[in-house]
Amino acid sequence: MAVPLFSRPIRFIRRGEVVSVSNVPPSRTLLELLREDLACTGTKEGCGEGDCGACTVVLGEAEGGQVRYRAINSCIRLAHSIDGMALWTVEDIAQEGALHPVQQAMVNEHGSQCGFCTPGFVMSLFGMYQNHVCQGKPITRELAQEELSGNLCRCTGYRPILDAAQAMAALPPVKVDESALLRQLKSVRTEPGVTEAEYLAPRTLAGLLRARASQPGAQLVAGCTDVGLWVTKMHKEFGQVLDVTQVEELRRIEHYPHHIAIGAAVTLADAYAALEKDRPQLHNFAARFAGLPVRNSGTLGGNVANGSPIGDSMPLLIALGANVVLMSVRGHREMPLEKLYTGYRTSVMAVDEVLAWIKVPRPGSPHPNPLPGGEGIDKTNRVAPSPLWGEGWGEGPERLRVYKISKRYDDDISAVCLAINLQVKDGKVTAASIGAGGVAATPVRAVQTEAALRGQPWTQATVRQAMAALRAEFSPISDMRASAAYRSEVLGNLLQRYWLESQGLQQINLASFRLEEAA
Ligand code: FES
Ligand code: FES
Repeated sequence: MAVPLFSRPIRFIRRGEVVSVSNVPPSRTLLELLREDLACTGTKEGCGEGDCGACTVVLGEAEGGQVRYRAINSCIRLAHSIDGMALWTVEDIAQEGALHPVQQAMVNEHGSQCGFCTPGFVMSLFGMYQNHVCQGKPITRELAQEELSGNLCRCTGYRPILDAAQAMAALPPVKVDESALLRQLKSVRTEPGVTEAEYLAPRTLAGLLRARASQPGAQLVAGCTDVGLWVTKMHKEFGQVLDVTQVEELRRIEHYPHHIAIGAAVTLADAYAALEKDRPQLHNFAARFAGLPVRNSGTLGGNVANGSPIGDSMPLLIALGANVVLMSVRGHREMPLEKLYTGYRTSVMAVDEVLAWIKVPRPGSPHPNPLPGGEGIDKTNRVAPSPLWGEGWGEGPERLRVYKISKRYDDDISAVCLAINLQVKDGKVTAASIGAGGVAATPVRAVQTEAALRGQPWTQATVRQAMAALRAEFSPISDMRASAAYRSEVLGNLLQRYWLESQGLQQINLASFRLEEAA
C-alpha cells in the first residue's frame, strides 16, 4: 500500500520575521501564495508565464557566507522552492513610511504611468540595487537595460525607468542588515530527510538519487521556468515534486584544465556567466536567453533535460562539444549532449536517473565528440588568429558564433537558433561543429553541413554549398513563431552571416547596436 504523503510547512524570512505557512499544495505558485494565501496583492499578475515581469520579487540565499539576491518571477516559481530563503516583495522595502531609494528614484524620474508593471520594475531595481549599488558598482545604461529586460511596460515608460535605475545610487543609501539575515537564514534551513513529503528538495546528491529511485512518479523540477507554465497555462497539478535546486553538489561550477563541469542546479545566469569567462562573445546571446528573472530561476540542467527543440542552450552546447552526465543509484553514464534526445521532449533518461552535470570543453581543448571523417583537430592554442576574423572571436583556433532569431530582441523565445563553431587553418576548415534549434523535434547537430565544410577551403563558394546543405538537412515546421519556409531560409542566411562576419563585417547585426548611440 502506498505511504500517504505529508505536507511540510514552508518557512522563509520576510520583513525580519520567520514566516511559516502550512498545507501548501506542491503545485501552488509563489504568486498564488502571496496574493491568495497571504493577501499580499502588491505583487501583480500579468502574463502568468515569465514574460512580463509584473510578478517580480527578490529572493535572498546564503551563498559563500554572503547573501545572494536574485530577482525572479513569482508566477512560475513553486511556493515550496523558497523554503529556507529570504523574500522581498514591493510591500517590503519602504521603511517607516520612507520610500526605498529605488521607489524614490522611480517617483523622481516619473517612471510610473498606469502603474501595473511598476511593482515588478521596482523589484528588479531592488535586485540591481543590492547587487550593484550596495557593492559600490556603477549602473550603466547598458546594464540597466539588460537587467530590466524581463520587465515589460505597455505605457512606453522605459526611458524614465532606465533613468531611475541610474539615479538611485545618488539617493541616501538603505542597507539590508546582512549579518542578522544570515543568522536567520541559518535558523530556517532544515534538512529534509524523508521521501514521503509532497515536495522534496534534497540537499545532497545522494539524497536526490535515493528520492529519484524511490519516488519515480514525482515531477522533477530544476528551476521550474518551463514546468511552471504547465501549472499556470495547462492547470496541471502534481501529487509530488522532486526539486533538484537545493542539492549542494549540483549548485557548483567546477573548473578543470580542459573543461568546466556545470552542475544541473546552477542557474542560467551563473552558468552563462561562467561560459562567458572563456568566451566573451557569448555575452549578447546570454543576455537574450530570457529576461534576468527567468535566468535567475531557470537552470542550465533544466533547460537541457527538458529538451525543448527551441531551448537556446542546446545548440550552443552541441557546437561546443558538451557532454552530459546522467546519474542514478546504479551509477552514472556520460554521452554527447545531442545523444540525450530520442524525440520531441523525450530522452534516454531512465525513470531513476537525473541529469547531474554538463561538461563543456574549454577553448583550445580537443572536441570530445569529433565525427568520423573529421581531420585532426588543432589541439593547441598557438594558432594566431587570421586578421580576417576580427575582434570578438575568442582566443585560439576556435571560431564560435551563436545566433538567435526571435520576433522580439529581448525576452523572447527563438524561432531559430544556430551555433557555429569552426576551426580554420591555412585557409581550410579543419573542424566544424554546428548545433541548431527550432528546426526539428529535438535540438540537433548539423552533421551533413559539418561534413560539407570539413576539409574545404574557407571561401564563399564553400559557404554557398554549406548553406544549401544546411537548408536541406532539416525539415522545420510552421508555428506561431515562424513558417517552415522562413526557418529554412534563415538557417542558410545565418551561415552566410557567419561568413560575412569572418570577413571583418562585424557591424551587420543588432548585437552591435548600442543604446547610448541612439539616445
Ligand atoms: Fe508576467 Fe509573471 S505575471 S512574468
Ligand atoms: Fe503602465 Fe508600465 S506604467 S504598464
